[in-house]
Amino acid sequence: VSLKSYNTFGIDATARYLVEVDNDEDIQTLLQLPDVQTLPKLILGGGSNLLLTQDFNGLVVKINIKGIRTVKEDQENVWVRVGAGENWHEFVLYCVERGLAGLENLSLIPGTVGAAPMQNIGAYGVEIKDTFERLEAVHILTGQKRVFTNEECRFGYRDSVFKNELKGEYIICNVQFKLQKTPVFHVSYGDIQKTLDQMGVKELNIKAISDAVIKIRRSKLPDPVEIGNAGSFFKNPEISVMQYEHLKLMYPEIPGYVINNEVVKVPAGWLIEQCGWKGKRFGSIGVHARQALVLVNYGGGKGTEIKQLAEKIQSSVEEQFGIRLHTEVNFI
Ligand code: EPU
Repeated sequence: VSLKSYNTFGIDATARYLVEVDNDEDIQTLLQLPDVQTLPKLILGGGSNLLLTQDFNGLVVKINIKGIRTVKEDQENVWVRVGAGENWHEFVLYCVERGLAGLENLSLIPGTVGAAPMQNIGAYGVEIKDTFERLEAVHILTGQKRVFTNEECRFGYRDSVFKNELKGEYIICNVQFKLQKTPVFHVSYGDIQKTLDQMGVKELNIKAISDAVIKIRRSKLPDPVEIGNAGSFFKNPEISVMQYEHLKLMYPEIPGYVINNEVVKVPAGWLIEQCGWKGKRFGSIGVHARQALVLVNYGGGKGTEIKQLAEKIQSSVEEQFGIRLHTEVNFI
């Protein structure tokens, strides 16, 4: 089976088998089949954070569990449970339309709801962990269902327990969010306020923030439907204040966000751009012209080519700045 339409990079790798499941019970039944138990398995949501570097000699399980429903409500909050297979951005719009606040800054992020907690998706000063309440997941080996609270997911910057200790062990079936009826606006990141001003927004509201985020993202990030990509390819590295001060002597304009007394986060896009990679094209693949953190497949590119390009970028950034970039995208 070709996986080309199952990954936003548009890599034309194949899988031996592929099955789509649309409810929890089918996942449990599937995992109990003896033939399935012996196969290597790859769990897929939207395939938007994935680089296929070879064919997959196993079973791809594509999660299609749908459904959005309110499970609880009080004066301040609404608890909403969402199937893992729902499209992330459509769910954000669902919330925005109903005046449920908390996710508006996360508009237009590609992928599914079930994949979102994996890497604690974040943008424009907000992360999913801020509104995430719990999720339900099936243990792949035993078929047992388990609830994970916010704390148990051990969220970090683009990180969770599902990328570490429990990597490859669970299939997320649904996610529950605690949304606010009275919004708390997050407009201090980057160009949000400027964009709101340009849009002529006088009274702040979550629809306007969502629209502003969509506008900013469209202006910088390639639409995977048009050009294959998986968003930020690398994480923004965290370095010591000392190293940052040292770099600042040589590169006075180096941007940095202070995380705490010891740590500064530097935009990887800036480092990559300084090394001259921005907008560079190599045959079918390249570095996006408007955001150097995004690697792109113009069509027909191979996963191995992108991997090699990523390695070259890592080496050159390390050579010039002494900073090792780590990938955000998962390699298969
Ligand atoms: N910059 C450059 N050149 C570039 C790109 C960025 O110099 O080519 C510098 C600029 O100084 C800019 C700064 O980097 O002001 C920040 O850029 P931007 O606001 O585009 O954000 P980012 O740090 O590059 C991160 C996330 C994005 C998220 C944005 C907005 C990571 C790895 N990426 O990118 O997330 O949308 O912030 O919050 O943390 C993703 O994870 O796939 C993703 C797109």
